[in-house]
Amino acid sequence: MKIGFIGFGAHMREYLLPTWRTFFGVEIAGICDIDPRKRQEAVALCGIRNDIVFDDYRAMMDTTKPDAIVAACYPNEHFRIARESIERSIPVFIEKPLASTMAQVEDLIEQAARKNIVTAVGMNFRFAEVTKRLSEIAGGHFNTISLRQLANKPAGCLWDYTSPLKSFLHAQTIHGLDMLIYLCGPVDKLDVVHDNHGDCIIFTTVMRFSSGAHGSLITSNTSPHFVFDFDAICRDTVHVTARSMWDITVSEIGKTYVNGEQKKWRDSWTPSPLASGFDRSGFRGEIEDFIATIRANRGASGSSTAFATLHETFRCLEEIEAQCQSNPTIVKELAS
Ligand SMILES: NC(=O)c1ccc[n+]([C@@H]2O[C@H](COP(=O)([O-])OP(=O)(O)OC[C@H]3O[C@@H](n4cnc5c(N)ncnc54)[C@H](O)[C@@H]3O)[C@@H](O)[C@H]2O)c1
Repeated sequence: MKIGFIGFGAHMREYLLPTWRTFFGVEIAGICDIDPRKRQEAVALCGIRNDIVFDDYRAMMDTTKPDAIVAACYPNEHFRIARESIERSIPVFIEKPLASTMAQVEDLIEQAARKNIVTAVGMNFRFAEVTKRLSEIAGGHFNTISLRQLANKPAGCLWDYTSPLKSFLHAQTIHGLDMLIYLCGPVDKLDVVHDNHGDCIIFTTVMRFSSGAHGSLITSNTSPHFVFDFDAICRDTVHVTARSMWDITVSEIGKTYVNGEQKKWRDSWTPSPLASGFDRSGFRGEIEDFIATIRANRGASGSSTAFATLHETFRCLEEIEAQCQSNPTIVKELAS
Protein backbone atom coordinates (compact mmCIF):
# COMPACT_ATOMS: atom_id res chain seq x y z
CA MET A 1 0.00 0.00 0.00
CA LYS A 2 1.54 3.33 -1.12
CA ILE A 3 0.75 6.30 1.14
CA GLY A 4 1.00 10.03 0.45
CA PHE A 5 1.85 11.91 3.67
CA ILE A 6 0.93 15.61 3.95
CA GLY A 7 2.39 17.88 6.66
CA PHE A 8 5.83 16.77 7.91
CA GLY A 9 5.48 18.46 11.32
CA ALA A 10 5.94 17.22 14.88
CA HIS A 11 2.98 14.85 14.97
CA MET A 12 3.74 13.26 11.60
CA ARG A 13 7.42 12.61 12.26
CA GLU A 14 7.15 11.58 15.92
CA TYR A 15 3.95 9.51 15.91
CA LEU A 16 2.07 9.03 12.64
CA LEU A 17 4.82 8.09 10.20
CA PRO A 18 6.71 5.87 12.71
CA THR A 19 3.45 4.04 13.47
CA TRP A 20 2.66 3.59 9.76
CA ARG A 21 6.10 2.10 9.31
CA THR A 22 5.31 -0.70 11.79
CA PHE A 23 2.89 -2.16 9.20
CA PHE A 24 4.28 -4.58 6.63
CA GLY A 25 3.74 -3.66 3.00
CA VAL A 26 3.35 0.10 3.60
CA GLU A 27 5.47 2.32 1.35
CA ILE A 28 5.93 6.08 1.13
CA ALA A 29 4.42 7.23 -2.18
CA GLY A 30 5.35 10.82 -1.41
CA ILE A 31 5.71 13.42 1.34
CA CYS A 32 4.38 16.96 1.02
CA ASP A 33 5.03 20.07 3.12
CA ILE A 34 4.79 23.74 2.23
CA ASP A 35 7.88 24.48 4.35
CA PRO A 36 11.18 23.85 2.44
CA ARG A 37 13.04 22.99 5.68
CA LYS A 38 10.50 20.26 6.47
CA ARG A 39 10.91 18.87 2.95
CA GLN A 40 14.70 18.67 3.40
CA GLU A 41 14.20 16.96 6.77
CA ALA A 42 11.79 14.47 5.16
CA VAL A 43 14.44 13.47 2.61
CA ALA A 44 17.14 13.16 5.28
CA LEU A 45 15.07 11.40 7.97
CA CYS A 46 13.08 9.03 5.74
CA GLY A 47 15.86 8.30 3.23
CA ILE A 48 13.57 9.00 0.27
CA ARG A 49 14.32 10.43 -3.19
CA ASN A 50 13.89 14.17 -3.79
CA ASP A 51 11.45 13.52 -6.63
CA ILE A 52 8.79 12.12 -4.28
CA VAL A 53 8.87 15.18 -2.00
CA PHE A 54 6.33 17.88 -2.91
CA ASP A 55 5.30 21.40 -1.94
CA ASP A 56 1.77 20.98 -3.34
CA TYR A 57 -0.41 18.05 -2.23
CA ARG A 58 -2.51 18.14 -5.40
CA ALA A 59 0.65 17.58 -7.47
CA MET A 60 1.64 14.73 -5.13
CA MET A 61 -1.79 13.10 -5.48
CA ASP A 62 -1.74 13.39 -9.29
CA THR A 63 1.91 12.37 -9.80
CA THR A 64 2.28 9.50 -7.33
CA LYS A 65 -1.31 8.17 -7.44
CA PRO A 66 -1.21 6.94 -3.81
CA ASP A 67 -3.50 4.22 -2.43
CA ALA A 68 -4.30 6.53 0.50
CA ILE A 69 -3.58 9.99 1.88
CA VAL A 70 -2.58 10.76 5.49
CA ALA A 71 -2.62 14.43 6.55
CA ALA A 72 -1.52 16.20 9.75
CA CYS A 73 -1.59 19.96 9.07
CA TYR A 74 -4.13 22.55 10.23
CA PRO A 75 -7.98 22.38 10.30
CA ASN A 76 -8.76 24.54 7.25
CA GLU A 77 -6.07 22.69 5.29
CA HIS A 78 -7.53 19.38 6.50
CA PHE A 79 -10.87 20.35 4.99
CA ARG A 80 -9.30 21.23 1.63
CA ILE A 81 -7.05 18.13 1.57
CA ALA A 82 -9.96 15.82 2.41
CA ARG A 83 -12.06 17.35 -0.38
CA GLU A 84 -9.29 17.00 -2.96
CA SER A 85 -8.66 13.36 -1.95
CA ILE A 86 -12.34 12.46 -2.10
CA GLU A 87 -12.71 14.17 -5.47
CA ARG A 88 -9.89 11.94 -6.78
CA SER A 89 -11.42 8.85 -5.10
CA ILE A 90 -8.39 8.39 -2.81
CA PRO A 91 -9.09 7.03 0.71
CA VAL A 92 -8.10 9.67 3.26
CA PHE A 93 -7.00 9.76 6.91
CA ILE A 94 -7.06 13.23 8.48
CA GLU A 95 -5.65 14.19 11.87
CA LYS A 96 -7.96 15.88 14.33
CA PRO A 97 -9.53 18.38 14.04
CA LEU A 98 -11.08 17.15 10.80
CA ALA A 99 -12.10 20.71 9.89
CA SER A 100 -12.66 24.08 11.53
CA THR A 101 -16.47 24.28 11.41
CA MET A 102 -19.52 22.05 11.59
CA ALA A 103 -20.51 23.22 8.08
CA GLN A 104 -17.19 21.92 6.71
CA VAL A 105 -17.58 18.61 8.57
CA GLU A 106 -21.09 18.16 7.11
CA ASP A 107 -19.82 18.98 3.63
CA LEU A 108 -17.07 16.34 3.93
CA ILE A 109 -19.51 13.70 5.22
CA GLU A 110 -21.75 14.41 2.22
CA GLN A 111 -18.89 14.32 -0.31
CA ALA A 112 -17.45 11.07 1.12
CA ALA A 113 -20.89 9.40 0.99
CA ARG A 114 -21.50 10.66 -2.58
CA LYS A 115 -18.24 9.08 -3.81
CA ASN A 116 -18.30 6.21 -1.25
CA ILE A 117 -14.67 6.83 -0.28
CA VAL A 118 -13.04 5.34 2.85
CA THR A 119 -12.33 8.08 5.38
CA ALA A 120 -10.80 8.16 8.86
CA VAL A 121 -9.87 10.72 11.51
CA GLY A 122 -7.01 10.59 14.04
CA MET A 123 -9.21 9.93 17.07
CA ASN A 124 -6.60 7.67 18.65
CA PHE A 125 -8.20 7.72 22.12
CA ARG A 126 -11.01 5.51 20.72
CA PHE A 127 -8.36 2.80 20.24
CA ALA A 128 -6.31 3.40 23.40
CA GLU A 129 -5.79 0.33 25.61
CA VAL A 130 -7.78 1.86 28.48
CA THR A 131 -10.74 2.68 26.22
CA LYS A 132 -10.86 -0.82 24.75
CA ARG A 133 -10.70 -2.43 28.20
CA LEU A 134 -13.30 -0.11 29.71
CA SER A 135 -15.62 -0.82 26.79
CA GLU A 136 -15.23 -4.59 27.21
CA ILE A 137 -15.82 -4.41 30.99
CA ALA A 138 -18.96 -2.26 30.56
CA GLY A 139 -20.38 -4.48 27.81
CA GLY A 140 -22.39 -1.53 26.52
CA HIS A 141 -23.96 -0.66 29.91
CA PHE A 142 -22.53 2.56 31.32
CA ASN A 143 -24.18 4.33 34.25
CA THR A 144 -21.74 7.22 34.51
CA ILE A 145 -18.23 8.29 33.53
CA SER A 146 -16.27 11.20 34.93
CA LEU A 147 -13.21 12.17 32.89
CA ARG A 148 -10.52 14.61 33.97
CA GLN A 149 -8.58 15.81 30.95
CA LEU A 150 -6.07 18.47 31.96
CA ALA A 151 -3.27 20.02 29.93
CA ASN A 152 -0.99 23.04 29.77
CA LYS A 153 -1.64 23.91 26.12
CA PRO A 154 -2.76 25.56 24.00
CA ALA A 155 -2.77 28.78 26.05
CA GLY A 156 -3.58 31.10 23.16
CA CYS A 157 -4.66 30.87 19.53
CA LEU A 158 -3.62 27.96 17.30
CA TRP A 159 -3.61 27.68 13.51
CA ASP A 160 -5.62 30.48 11.85
CA TYR A 161 -8.13 30.57 14.75
CA THR A 162 -8.79 33.85 16.54
CA SER A 163 -10.21 32.31 19.75
CA PRO A 164 -8.13 30.61 22.48
CA LEU A 165 -11.27 28.74 23.57
CA LYS A 166 -11.94 27.27 20.12
CA SER A 167 -8.24 26.41 19.80
CA PHE A 168 -8.39 24.51 23.10
CA LEU A 169 -11.67 22.78 22.18
CA HIS A 170 -10.33 21.59 18.80
CA ALA A 171 -6.85 20.67 20.06
CA GLN A 172 -7.62 19.04 23.44
CA THR A 173 -11.28 18.75 24.44
CA ILE A 174 -12.09 17.00 21.17
CA HIS A 175 -10.28 13.85 22.40
CA GLY A 176 -11.99 13.49 25.80
CA LEU A 177 -15.41 14.48 24.51
CA ASP A 178 -15.13 12.14 21.54
CA MET A 179 -14.09 9.25 23.80
CA LEU A 180 -17.16 9.78 26.01
CA ILE A 181 -19.46 9.93 22.96
CA TYR A 182 -17.75 6.88 21.45
CA LEU A 183 -18.44 4.90 24.65
CA CYS A 184 -21.87 6.23 25.64
CA GLY A 185 -23.45 7.33 22.34
CA PRO A 186 -25.19 10.57 21.30
CA VAL A 187 -25.76 13.36 23.83
CA ASP A 188 -29.30 14.45 24.74
CA LYS A 189 -28.38 17.30 27.08
CA LEU A 190 -25.19 19.15 27.83
CA ASP A 191 -24.49 21.89 30.43
CA VAL A 192 -21.26 23.80 30.89
CA VAL A 193 -19.99 25.61 33.99
CA HIS A 194 -16.82 27.56 33.40
CA ASP A 195 -14.27 29.91 34.84
CA ASN A 196 -12.66 30.98 31.56
CA HIS A 197 -10.85 34.31 31.55
CA GLY A 198 -8.17 35.60 29.20
CA ASP A 199 -6.13 32.65 27.94
CA CYS A 200 -7.11 30.65 31.05
CA ILE A 201 -9.62 27.91 30.24
CA ILE A 202 -11.22 25.85 33.01
CA PHE A 203 -14.65 24.25 32.58
CA THR A 204 -16.82 21.29 33.47
CA THR A 205 -19.32 19.79 31.05
CA VAL A 206 -22.13 17.59 32.36
CA MET A 207 -23.82 15.34 29.81
CA ARG A 208 -26.91 13.14 29.64
CA PHE A 209 -26.61 10.54 26.85
CA SER A 210 -29.56 9.06 24.96
CA SER A 211 -28.46 5.64 26.24
CA GLY A 212 -29.47 6.80 29.75
CA ALA A 213 -25.85 7.14 30.91
CA HIS A 214 -24.52 10.44 32.22
CA GLY A 215 -21.03 11.81 32.42
CA SER A 216 -18.80 14.77 33.11
CA LEU A 217 -15.68 16.18 31.53
CA ILE A 218 -13.45 18.38 33.67
CA THR A 219 -10.86 20.14 31.60
CA SER A 220 -8.39 23.00 31.68
CA ASN A 221 -5.27 24.36 29.99
CA THR A 222 -3.69 25.36 33.33
CA SER A 223 -2.33 22.02 34.54
CA PRO A 224 1.46 21.54 34.65
CA HIS A 225 0.89 17.87 33.68
CA PHE A 226 -1.13 16.11 31.04
CA VAL A 227 -3.87 14.24 32.94
CA PHE A 228 -6.30 11.78 31.37
CA ASP A 229 -7.97 9.95 34.28
CA PHE A 230 -11.47 8.61 34.62
CA ASP A 231 -13.88 6.91 36.99
CA ALA A 232 -16.77 4.93 35.60
CA ILE A 233 -19.67 2.99 37.04
CA CYS A 234 -21.01 0.36 34.69
CA ARG A 235 -23.40 -2.57 34.88
CA ASP A 236 -24.75 -0.84 38.06
CA THR A 237 -22.17 -2.24 40.47
CA VAL A 238 -18.84 -2.36 38.63
CA HIS A 239 -16.48 0.55 39.41
CA VAL A 240 -13.60 1.19 37.03
CA THR A 241 -10.82 3.73 37.41
CA ALA A 242 -7.93 4.50 35.08
CA ARG A 243 -4.93 6.73 35.73
CA SER A 244 -2.68 8.24 33.07
CA MET A 245 -4.04 5.87 30.40
CA TRP A 246 -1.96 3.19 32.13
CA ASP A 247 -3.31 1.57 35.29
CA ILE A 248 -6.87 0.28 35.47
CA THR A 249 -8.59 -0.94 38.64
CA VAL A 250 -11.94 -2.70 38.82
CA SER A 251 -14.01 -3.36 41.93
CA GLU A 252 -17.42 -4.92 42.15
CA ILE A 253 -20.05 -5.22 44.85
CA GLY A 254 -20.66 -8.84 45.80
CA LYS A 255 -17.42 -10.14 44.29
CA THR A 256 -15.28 -12.37 46.52
CA TYR A 257 -11.55 -11.59 46.52
CA VAL A 258 -8.55 -13.01 48.43
CA ASN A 259 -9.24 -14.75 51.83
CA GLY A 260 -12.94 -14.84 51.01
CA GLU A 261 -13.18 -11.07 51.55
CA GLN A 262 -15.66 -8.96 49.59
CA LYS A 263 -14.77 -5.42 50.66
CA LYS A 264 -11.76 -3.15 50.19
CA TRP A 265 -10.25 -5.31 47.41
CA ARG A 266 -9.97 -4.54 43.73
CA ASP A 267 -8.53 -6.07 40.56
CA SER A 268 -5.83 -4.11 38.83
CA TRP A 269 -4.42 -4.21 35.33
CA THR A 270 -1.10 -2.77 34.19
CA PRO A 271 0.31 -3.09 30.68
CA SER A 272 3.52 -5.01 30.09
CA PRO A 273 6.66 -2.87 30.40
CA LEU A 274 7.37 -4.00 26.81
CA ALA A 275 4.01 -2.74 25.48
CA SER A 276 4.54 -0.29 22.64
CA GLY A 277 3.38 3.28 23.22
CA PHE A 278 1.76 3.23 19.77
CA ASP A 279 -0.64 0.51 20.97
CA ARG A 280 -1.34 2.08 24.35
CA SER A 281 -2.10 5.51 22.90
CA GLY A 282 -4.27 4.07 20.12
CA PHE A 283 -2.11 5.33 17.21
CA ARG A 284 -1.63 1.78 15.93
CA GLY A 285 -5.29 0.86 16.31
CA GLU A 286 -6.59 3.85 14.33
CA ILE A 287 -4.24 3.06 11.42
CA GLU A 288 -4.93 -0.68 11.52
CA ASP A 289 -8.65 0.07 11.28
CA PHE A 290 -8.13 2.46 8.32
CA ILE A 291 -5.96 -0.07 6.44
CA ALA A 292 -8.43 -2.93 7.10
CA THR A 293 -11.32 -0.75 5.84
CA ILE A 294 -9.47 0.07 2.62
CA ARG A 295 -8.49 -3.59 2.05
CA ALA A 296 -12.05 -4.81 2.64
CA ASN A 297 -13.39 -1.93 0.53
CA ARG A 298 -15.98 -1.06 3.17
CA GLY A 299 -16.76 2.41 1.80
CA ALA A 300 -17.50 5.81 3.34
CA SER A 301 -18.98 4.60 6.62
CA GLY A 302 -16.76 1.51 6.96
CA SER A 303 -14.06 2.68 9.34
CA SER A 304 -14.55 3.20 13.10
CA THR A 305 -13.47 6.82 12.67
CA ALA A 306 -15.27 7.57 9.37
CA PHE A 307 -15.96 11.29 8.92
CA ALA A 308 -19.66 10.71 9.70
CA THR A 309 -18.75 9.43 13.18
CA LEU A 310 -17.35 12.88 14.06
CA HIS A 311 -20.66 14.68 13.53
CA GLU A 312 -21.89 14.32 17.14
CA THR A 313 -18.50 15.35 18.56
CA PHE A 314 -18.46 18.56 16.49
CA ARG A 315 -22.10 19.31 17.39
CA CYS A 316 -21.20 19.06 21.10
CA LEU A 317 -18.00 21.11 20.66
CA GLU A 318 -20.09 23.91 19.12
CA GLU A 319 -22.60 23.65 21.98
CA ILE A 320 -19.82 23.87 24.60
CA GLU A 321 -18.32 26.89 22.82
CA ALA A 322 -21.71 28.62 22.64
CA GLN A 323 -22.44 28.00 26.34
CA CYS A 324 -18.99 29.23 27.40
CA GLN A 325 -19.60 32.41 25.41
CA SER A 326 -23.13 33.06 26.67
CA ASN A 327 -22.98 31.85 30.31
CA PRO A 328 -21.32 34.12 32.86
CA THR A 329 -18.19 32.72 34.52
CA ILE A 330 -18.46 31.31 38.06
CA VAL A 331 -16.14 34.08 39.28
CA LYS A 332 -18.43 36.83 37.92
CA GLU A 333 -21.54 35.15 39.30
CA LEU A 334 -20.08 34.96 42.80
CA ALA A 335 -18.90 38.57 42.67
CA SER A 336 -22.30 39.98 41.66
N1 LIG B 1 -3.98 12.77 17.68
C1 LIG B 1 -3.13 13.36 18.47
O1 LIG B 1 -2.93 12.93 19.60
C2 LIG B 1 -2.40 14.58 17.97
C3 LIG B 1 -1.28 15.06 18.68
C4 LIG B 1 -0.61 16.18 18.18
C5 LIG B 1 -1.07 16.81 17.04
N2 LIG B 1 -2.17 16.33 16.38
C6 LIG B 1 -2.71 17.03 15.20
O2 LIG B 1 -1.77 16.92 14.13
C7 LIG B 1 -1.83 18.10 13.33
C8 LIG B 1 -0.42 18.66 13.15
O3 LIG B 1 0.09 19.02 14.41
P1 LIG B 1 1.66 19.28 14.61
O4 LIG B 1 1.86 19.48 16.06
O5 LIG B 1 2.45 18.26 13.88
O6 LIG B 1 1.81 20.69 13.85
P2 LIG B 1 3.11 21.26 13.09
O7 LIG B 1 2.89 22.71 12.91
O8 LIG B 1 4.35 20.78 13.78
O9 LIG B 1 3.04 20.52 11.68
C9 LIG B 1 2.13 20.84 10.66
C10 LIG B 1 2.88 20.76 9.33
O10 LIG B 1 1.92 20.90 8.28
C11 LIG B 1 2.56 21.67 7.26
N3 LIG B 1 1.49 22.22 6.40
C12 LIG B 1 0.57 23.17 6.70
N4 LIG B 1 -0.26 23.37 5.65
C13 LIG B 1 0.16 22.54 4.66
C14 LIG B 1 -0.27 22.28 3.34
N5 LIG B 1 -1.32 22.93 2.79
N6 LIG B 1 0.39 21.34 2.61
C15 LIG B 1 1.45 20.68 3.13
N7 LIG B 1 1.91 20.89 4.39
C16 LIG B 1 1.27 21.79 5.15
C17 LIG B 1 3.35 22.72 8.02
O11 LIG B 1 4.37 23.31 7.22
C18 LIG B 1 3.92 21.88 9.16
O12 LIG B 1 5.17 21.30 8.83
C19 LIG B 1 -2.78 19.07 14.03
O13 LIG B 1 -4.04 19.03 13.39
C20 LIG B 1 -2.90 18.53 15.44
O14 LIG B 1 -4.16 18.78 16.02
C21 LIG B 1 -2.83 15.23 16.83
